[in-house]
Amino acid sequence: MNPVLPPIDDTKIWDIMLSDFKSQAISIALALEVFEGFDAPAGAEQLAKKLGYSLRGMKALLPMLKVQGLLDKHQGAYQLNNLSRTYMLKESPYYWGPFFIRRGEAIPNYKVILDNIRDGETEEARGPADSWESGQMDPALAKKVTDFMHCHSMPSAVGMTQTCDFSNVQSLLDVGGGSGCYASALANHYPEMKCTIMELAAVCDVAKGYIEKAGVSDRVDTKAVDMFREDWPEDYEAHFFSNIFHDWSPETCELLAQKSFDALAPGGRICLQEILLEESGDEPYAAVAFSFFMTQGNKGQQYTLKHLEYILEKAGFKDVSARRSYGYYSLVTGKKP
Ligand SMILES: C[S@@+](CC[C@H](N)C(=O)[O-])C[C@H]1O[C@@H](n2cnc3c(N)ncnc32)[C@H](O)[C@@H]1O
Repeated sequence: MNPVLPPIDDTKIWDIMLSDFKSQAISIALALEVFEGFDAPAGAEQLAKKLGYSLRGMKALLPMLKVQGLLDKHQGAYQLNNLSRTYMLKESPYYWGPFFIRRGEAIPNYKVILDNIRDGETEEARGPADSWESGQMDPALAKKVTDFMHCHSMPSAVGMTQTCDFSNVQSLLDVGGGSGCYASALANHYPEMKCTIMELAAVCDVAKGYIEKAGVSDRVDTKAVDMFREDWPEDYEAHFFSNIFHDWSPETCELLAQKSFDALAPGGRICLQEILLEESGDEPYAAVAFSFFMTQGNKGQQYTLKHLEYILEKAGFKDVSARRSYGYYSLVTGKKP
């Protein structure tokens, strides 16, 4: 049986966790003299070119400044406002730079974060993404990362069973399913459903413990498959991805969508559980900050519905739609005709 739905949703916990990035983004912008770069309104592309910084970095950083009220945006171009002109520019007598920069420097991996925003991805300390990309993960890291993901996904896994209808799905492949909290919550909710967690081998070993605890070992199993290098099993009615697309570049997401499309039978469904960015790219804070976080250890970003729709349709999926599933999360679905 699933645990009862949390009596209060987890958005406040996400807000607290993601609040870490508020002053971090400001200290990075000040250290990189981003505010000084605005002698005229500019989009991320223009500013990246002008300052010689990575486009991905500026696309992650500028929304963090906008959402905190330090930049305005008109017709796609960011610009300084009264607040940033007063406190973020070196020539102002009210400049806060030394304070924020000093606080930033106290963060243990500050140099990596700063280098990633300025130069794009760097070689140093890329966290688990190196193992994900190589398809090789050692057991200690697998345990650490899987426990880390499990707690942020567990409420939305149980929550999603109340808001999204999987009653037509008898067999589901949870791609990069981590601890299996989604597969286990679905199996608990739908007594006929069988699920497989497709994961790196070391993560499968960790997931088995979680599945047993959830009491669904008879209907949820694991399959060690490197999703990039190996063939996907073919006999599932639905493919479920939670927080997978946000780990990867648009090009890699296109490849994953294509692998899914090819492995599904006609009529099969793809389901993406993600925190969606609004079309402006600057709201809501949770998506903007999660996207900023993605620059610190992997190649991903939070996506807009339109962008995911484009990726899924390019692979051949039809009828792409989204609905809010739990907390900040939405479930995006598409169908293989
Ligand atoms: C951000 S976590 C998401 C975990 C889970 N879906 C959730 O939402 O809690 C990404 C997952 O993708 C898995 N993964 C990454 N690269 C993979 C690969 N090459 N093959 C299979 N799984 C992979 C990781 O092991 C990890 O559990």
